Amino acid sequence: MRNHKTIRILLVGFTGVLTLVITEAVAQSKTSSTSAKTAGEAYKNIQVLKDAPAEQLVPAMQFISASLGVGCDHCHVQGAFEKDDKKGKQTARKMMQMTLAINQNNFDGHQEVTCYSCHRGGAKPISIPIISDEVTSLIPPPPPTAPADLPSGNNLVEKYIQALGGMDALKKVSSRVEKGKASSAGREYPVDILAKSPAKGLTVTHLPDGDLASAYSAQSGWQLAPGRPTRELTGTEIDGAKIDSSFYFPVHLTEILSEFETTGIEKIDAHSVFAVRGRQPNQLPIRLFFDQESGLLVRQIRYEPTPLGRIPVQTDFSDYRDTNGVKVPYQRITSRPGRRLVTKIDSVEQNIKLEDSKFEKPPNQSATGQQTSSK
Ligand code: HEC
Ligand code: HEC
Repeated sequence: MRNHKTIRILLVGFTGVLTLVITEAVAQSKTSSTSAKTAGEAYKNIQVLKDAPAEQLVPAMQFISASLGVGCDHCHVQGAFEKDDKKGKQTARKMMQMTLAINQNNFDGHQEVTCYSCHRGGAKPISIPIISDEVTSLIPPPPPTAPADLPSGNNLVEKYIQALGGMDALKKVSSRVEKGKASSAGREYPVDILAKSPAKGLTVTHLPDGDLASAYSAQSGWQLAPGRPTRELTGTEIDGAKIDSSFYFPVHLTEILSEFETTGIEKIDAHSVFAVRGRQPNQLPIRLFFDQESGLLVRQIRYEPTPLGRIPVQTDFSDYRDTNGVKVPYQRITSRPGRRLVTKIDSVEQNIKLEDSKFEKPPNQSATGQQTSSK
């Protein structure tokens, strides 16, 4: 039992996506397909978020934790998330009701006010303005460049595809195998990233106690963690995996997103970037940031929905290198509140034969956890 907990904590630290491993642990007795269920059906003691999709319950919890700057244990007793023993959990329920009511009564039910609006990363909000050391200027900053002077979003997207080598060159790449290292919270592990056109991807991180793998294909996806049964990815996770893939995303960019709107010029590190907002049908928009000089995508921010607010997931791409006629970002940093995963690629092979079976969900394994080989 203790062993399991250590693994879980390690995984949670390793990457935010994996916190969903907990969903499985908690709702284990129930059936594994929680996608169509409500939180009230899938969990034991839900009173406020009853009607939310079950797959959004744990993301909602991550949203709360990030908003208050606390861990799960601030409100939950170990191993029994359903229990109401902690005062924090009882207060949080009242706060949820209050926040939902504020939005209902004042903002037509839109998520304008969230836990973060008041808490700003602290357990106790501050209600009195602070006296700052810096004297704030009374002169407002100059208005941002008027959108009319900026290149259109469509233009910037086209320039990006050109900068990568052009759509023809991108479409000629039938497969890509990347080997590198993934690091988070001071630990580093070997990682293999496989992709095959049109829509298959697999990431295998070799942890000391077994492989951590997640894969997507056109309509489905799965995840495997050491000592846990294989689980299906939720729709949001499958979409997210495709958007985060530097193999899949450029080629399918104009299918995933429609209307591209240039919103301004911003700075990332020392570089000027064009900020573009892309819309997806029935989903939250995605923000793209293109280097003003090279035209390459340097940052992308997508948002995961939860009943209490949106969780931003940011990926930074850098170290673009020419690889058989297309540019590949050899460094990617994926961040979400409180977590960061740095992936550095050492070698890239393209157009090699990859069997479809490599991407298939492995049969369910015993708790000892066999290794999945990606060789
Ligand atoms: C600030 C308090 C707070 C924090 C922090 C918090 N939770 Fe919760 N959690 C709640 C409340 C309140 C509920 C019940 C929601 C309801 O009744 O609608 C809940 C319910 C749950 C449930 C459903 C349990 C069941 O079977 O009824 C799970 C699972 C859960 N939380 C996991 C987490 C995880 C994982 C984290 C850390 C990422 C976390 N929580 C952080 C307050 C919190
Ligand atoms: C409109 C502002 C506002 C919003 C929105 C808000 N809170 Fe609070 N919250 C407060 C204030 C103010 C306090 C402190 C009350 C006090 O000092 O006793 C507080 C206290 C709390 C506490 C008790 C903290 C402690 O350690 O004593 C918890 C837990 C909490 N809020 C959770 C939440 C959650 C979860 C959300 C979102 C669902 C949320 N709050 C949204 C204003 C807000």
